[in-house]
Amino acid sequence: MPIHGLSLSQYPSKPDHFDIEQVIRPNILALHPYRCARDDYKEGILLDANENALGHSISAQSPPDNASSFDPMLDMDLHRYPDPSHDPIKQRITTLRSVPGIDHIFLGVGSDEVIDLLMRVCVTPGKEKILITPPTYGMYSVCAQVNDIGVVKCPLEVSGQSGEGGTKGRFSLRVEEIKKAIDADASIKLVFLCSPGNPTGTKIPLQSIKAILDYDSFKGIVVVDEAYIDFASAGSSAVTLVKDYANICILQTLSKSFGLAAIRLGIAIAQPPLIQVLTNTKAPYNISTPTAHLALSALSPSSLATMQSKIETLIASRAALLKSLSDIAQLGLGPSIGSNDSNFVMIPVLSKDGVRPDNVRAQKVYKALAEENGVVVRFRGNEPGCEGCLRITVGSEEENATVIRKLELVLNQF
Ligand SMILES: Cc1ncc(COP(=O)(O)O)c(C=O)c1O
Repeated sequence: MPIHGLSLSQYPSKPDHFDIEQVIRPNILALHPYRCARDDYKEGILLDANENALGHSISAQSPPDNASSFDPMLDMDLHRYPDPSHDPIKQRITTLRSVPGIDHIFLGVGSDEVIDLLMRVCVTPGKEKILITPPTYGMYSVCAQVNDIGVVKCPLEVSGQSGEGGTKGRFSLRVEEIKKAIDADASIKLVFLCSPGNPTGTKIPLQSIKAILDYDSFKGIVVVDEAYIDFASAGSSAVTLVKDYANICILQTLSKSFGLAAIRLGIAIAQPPLIQVLTNTKAPYNISTPTAHLALSALSPSSLATMQSKIETLIASRAALLKSLSDIAQLGLGPSIGSNDSNFVMIPVLSKDGVRPDNVRAQKVYKALAEENGVVVRFRGNEPGCEGCLRITVGSEEENATVIRKLELVLNQF
């Protein structure tokens, strides 16, 4: 069955064992996407979409809560439905990420929407499954449950010695175990890998990702979630694999390195057949005009230069935060775990005698930080390989100084 809007014969599928028509659910392959008059006609007196001809009624005198100044929407045509495809944004992403063309890019309402959409197009509810590698981002399981999809877990290997700057290599992909899980269950359609991982902060080597892409018993798609990729060293992204593999889908986002979590813009990068399927299936106008406007500005050369310098600042602050944490380690903190490739660190709270990670003490510290000291971090101690761990986002210099001061205080209490 062809994919609506695309001739598959243009895209010889690599690797040989992958056939996208076997991965996408038949109802999705058969879909005739929603079309509107404006797909064909964009100019003229637009009376096709039941918009409000008189425009919006937002008053410049009534700023939203907390806003000190307010420009009622910067001349955006807010009474019109947004552009359904946002090609100028995609164009800037292709340049930034060295992607062959805009037909390799899909935009979602955060990467969370793309995660959900991938499950909906590939995995049959009540029958098929995804594979995840705990500890990992919680939304994969939540989305699977919402969609009535099974979850096979193949935990990361937890190993390695503590060392300066963290326990290097502590979390690694167990490629052979993943292959075994795939062999044991032909209903696994998606493998979710997170690189750098949340909460592991650890990159997955491209060799390990390739090993799963090349594994011919796996007929599904490998999703590589790169939400934190800009905080890792250059050359870590799996985007370079997209040209050679039709069975990979990279997820990125403007929520982290771009500092735009509020606008909700997620990105999928894959070969055109999968991108076309996602495009056919999405809600027609998923990306709002204000979001698109801000995203396009954020991707301009001058904004990218500013973003790059903020990334450098955060990476330097991450090192400084780790150093400050090790300076108070005698109060009962272990060395950071993982390899700190993201904009957060994972620090085990130890028992008072400093011998072992201690979830009970970590939870007390977590609560006291939030409830008595106004500092909210994340307790991750119940995740495999993360016993006693608090995940601390790298903040501003001032915030980092405060978190250290408050931690010192609280660790002395418990
Ligand atoms: C690994 C990972 N993927 C995806 C997301 C969600 O990103 P978005 O804001 O683009 O939905 C997060 C958010 O914390 C994350 O940690």
